Amino acid sequence: MCGIVGYIGKRSAYPILIKGLHRLEYRGYDSAGVALINPSSALHIYKSQGKVSALEDTARNQDLTGTVGIAHTRWATHGEPNHCNAHPHASQSGHIAIVHNGIIENYAAIKERLQAAGMTFRSDTDTEVLAQLIEWEQTQHPQSIEQAVRSALKQVEGAYAIAVLDNRQPDTIVSARKGSPLVIGVGEDELFLGSDASPIVEYTDRIIYLNDGDMAVLHSGQMPIVTDLHGTIRQVDVQRVALTVSQLEKGGYEHFMLKEIAEQPTSLRACMQGRVSKDEIRMEEIETDLALWQQARRLVITACGTSYYAGLAGKYALEDLAGIPVEVDYASEFRYRNPVLCKGDILIAISQSGETADTLAAVELAKQKGIPVVSVCNVVGSSIPRASDKVLYTRVGPEIGVASTKAFTAQVTILTLLAIRMARMNGTLTDANYRALVREMSSLPDKVAAVLQQGEAIRRMAEGLSFASNVLYIGRNYNYATALEGALKLKEISYIHAEGYPAAEMKHGPIALISQDMPVVAIATQGKVYDKLVSNIQEIRARHGRVMTVVTEGDTRIANMADATVAVPAVSEALSPLLTIVPLQLLAYHVACLKGCNVDQPRNLAKSVTVE
Ligand code: AGP
Ligand code: GLU
Repeated sequence: MCGIVGYIGKRSAYPILIKGLHRLEYRGYDSAGVALINPSSALHIYKSQGKVSALEDTARNQDLTGTVGIAHTRWATHGEPNHCNAHPHASQSGHIAIVHNGIIENYAAIKERLQAAGMTFRSDTDTEVLAQLIEWEQTQHPQSIEQAVRSALKQVEGAYAIAVLDNRQPDTIVSARKGSPLVIGVGEDELFLGSDASPIVEYTDRIIYLNDGDMAVLHSGQMPIVTDLHGTIRQVDVQRVALTVSQLEKGGYEHFMLKEIAEQPTSLRACMQGRVSKDEIRMEEIETDLALWQQARRLVITACGTSYYAGLAGKYALEDLAGIPVEVDYASEFRYRNPVLCKGDILIAISQSGETADTLAAVELAKQKGIPVVSVCNVVGSSIPRASDKVLYTRVGPEIGVASTKAFTAQVTILTLLAIRMARMNGTLTDANYRALVREMSSLPDKVAAVLQQGEAIRRMAEGLSFASNVLYIGRNYNYATALEGALKLKEISYIHAEGYPAAEMKHGPIALISQDMPVVAIATQGKVYDKLVSNIQEIRARHGRVMTVVTEGDTRIANMADATVAVPAVSEALSPLLTIVPLQLLAYHVACLKGCNVDQPRNLAKSVTVE
């Protein structure tokens, strides 16, 4: 999720800023930039698309003097990843520079208002709108940069961590956070800013963690002044961090995969931000083109790997809730089988990376056949969104671990939101049921957080699996896709052969495999086929099979039959995959750790399969 670095003090800022950006590279980004105020109070901005090293090439031989500066690695959400959209963004006068992590949700309305007042814009980003709004506040009411930032932020909706310079106040950095992380490092007569502590800890271990709603004004040689947006001072405590830099790059987690599993309460909130209010779903990609979705007679979902399983989970929700026919196919099969596509079809291409060759080819095929293409993707400006007519960005920030986790739950979230929204449009949900489901969606991040508290029980379950050579995963209805995805997680990082099956299919072959050496993982949460799953588990137990189960909290019936059980909070069956997959992600992770596997870079696998 990109990164911010800031410095104000007695040393040259540029080397500290650049080194800080390198420390934040692990977070993934597509462009980078730096703003410096030199000793003559001139404001210089250098930025480039691509890597921090490209920024260094751009800045080489330029004026890099000055002891005050801010820097940024961008993970694009609004506007292609290119030089113009890279941060820092300057205001029209050139006096103000800003770097921003997050999304300004009401940027379009603010931009329209400022354009009507004669302001001009250079980029496509939401961030530039904030720079111009700050300047506008200053022109309307001459005031300090901190006052202007305060006035501007009161008009903004969305998530932000920002750092702002004004070369008319060269000894000041104004920062603020709401929904995106930001910390301050307190050195000897110098202050640092960072999205996390990793760009700071080599200079000081004294860290102030800003809270949502905080604004902090940094002057060299002083303690930061932390207030709320109304100017009320907040007493802050300076903490000492003991983490090493390499640990910090994973946020204190041993692996990126574990960090990304643990991030899911936050990433689900980010994915739903601006799409789910307390009892309404509004998806810009639908609201601005209702006719496309109203005329849809079938959705054809295509993807690979985990993204394919997300599509399968989405099929159940879209058909069950919205009553629209859905076909799901592997992109590698879809592209070569000469699929029959008709008027009224919409192709939905799901891809975390946006670069998977088979999925991109499937998109091109659908376009050749004149079918509208909507993609669900996590990387702004990647190939698949660029080839699509519309894109639903998952917005969960870069997923570094090869095994997909937070991207999967975000993809399923997007498809579930689409299902509920289309059900509303098609009238296949009563108003009461619609609003109840919307409220449940809002409760999911907290419910996922509750599941993550069961790490110890899942670790014990992993010990029971780590010696197996083969494992079966079974589920039914909405959780058939969960069984497939859970099996993929185990096989791709622990190298244990694992297979997902619809539970009722056991009788049609797999039950011949059941023995003490073939453990079964059963997803058996409350739902309309719960009793059938009980029977499936009994059939396995009758043949001395070992069963590990994921159940709904309070379920003792299955727990008493199973060798190990993890419980998830109660939730409507349509939303259950978003909870039941989490223990299976952790299960695969702990088995892989027990086996000493390379969790983040499993053998033979790439994060993005850009070749056939
Ligand atoms: C999932 O854990 C794997 N890394 C893999 O199956 C992946 O989902 C697949 O390659 C598709 O990638 P994409 O979502 O970037 O298109
Ligand atoms: N929404 C801003 C942009 O797209 C900031 C993205 C980020 O967090 O890097 O430029």
